[in-house]
Amino acid sequence: MRIYEVKNYEELSRKAADMIAAQIILKPDCVLGLATGSTPVGAYRELIKKYENGELDFSQVSSVNLDEYKGLSGENDQSYRYFMNHNLFDHVNIDKTRTHVPNGLEPDADKACADYNTLIGSMGGIDLQLLGIGGNGHIGFNEPCEEFICDTHCVSLAQSTIEANARFFDSIDEVPKFAYTMGIRNIMSAKKVLLLASGKNKAQAVYDSCFRPVTPHVPASVLQLHPDTVIIADSDALSLAKEKGVF
Ligand code: GLP
Repeated sequence: MRIYEVKNYEELSRKAADMIAAQIILKPDCVLGLATGSTPVGAYRELIKKYENGELDFSQVSSVNLDEYKGLSGENDQSYRYFMNHNLFDHVNIDKTRTHVPNGLEPDADKACADYNTLIGSMGGIDLQLLGIGGNGHIGFNEPCEEFICDTHCVSLAQSTIEANARFFDSIDEVPKFAYTMGIRNIMSAKKVLLLASGKNKAQAVYDSCFRPVTPHVPASVLQLHPDTVIIADSDALSLAKEKGVF
């Protein structure tokens, strides 16, 4: 994995957008694996600017998102479908029928997950997978556990994830307890992975993921085994690695 240190969130967002834009320019009909959470919002904003300046054309791009809360419809303003529409898709010329998020309203978890795996396969694989990282090292909603789970699956969210994501809801009781998420093999099959980490609250996760042994207890650590992973992290997110003298 290659790690680029940036000064702050603004620089992180610009660099990430440059890399995603390069992917679209190199392959206009690429498949982007997209992420939610607060971290990629700045990169999406930069991509919108590039589109508005006439530098980027999304008309042939397809996308698959990492995850979705189980039980939320795309109209719910806390759903990841709503997030993607609001933060990116509504502002660029992407064909929304080519944008995909797991179906949070499918109550049959096995069906929802099998359908999403089939869909990802039918798209011919992901060219560039964008990732944020949870404070406990989760990617998508692959929470720390005893073994890596390969394919799209239904996950029971860790209490720390529910607490971290409660800031987006009116109360913690409203945070869904389950989600559908791409699995580790789905993510590892992407040709290129771009993980973004910003802030001191990610310092432990970045240290554990990049500089400690690969373990399903820190899901992002598996990226050490991916042939083309780029991490863009700001100085705060790299602070523990620096303190330990490994970066
Ligand atoms: C959620 C998402 C992850 C995201 C994580 C971190 O749990 N499922 O994809 O990486 O939050 O979010 P943030 O970027 O807001 O710290």
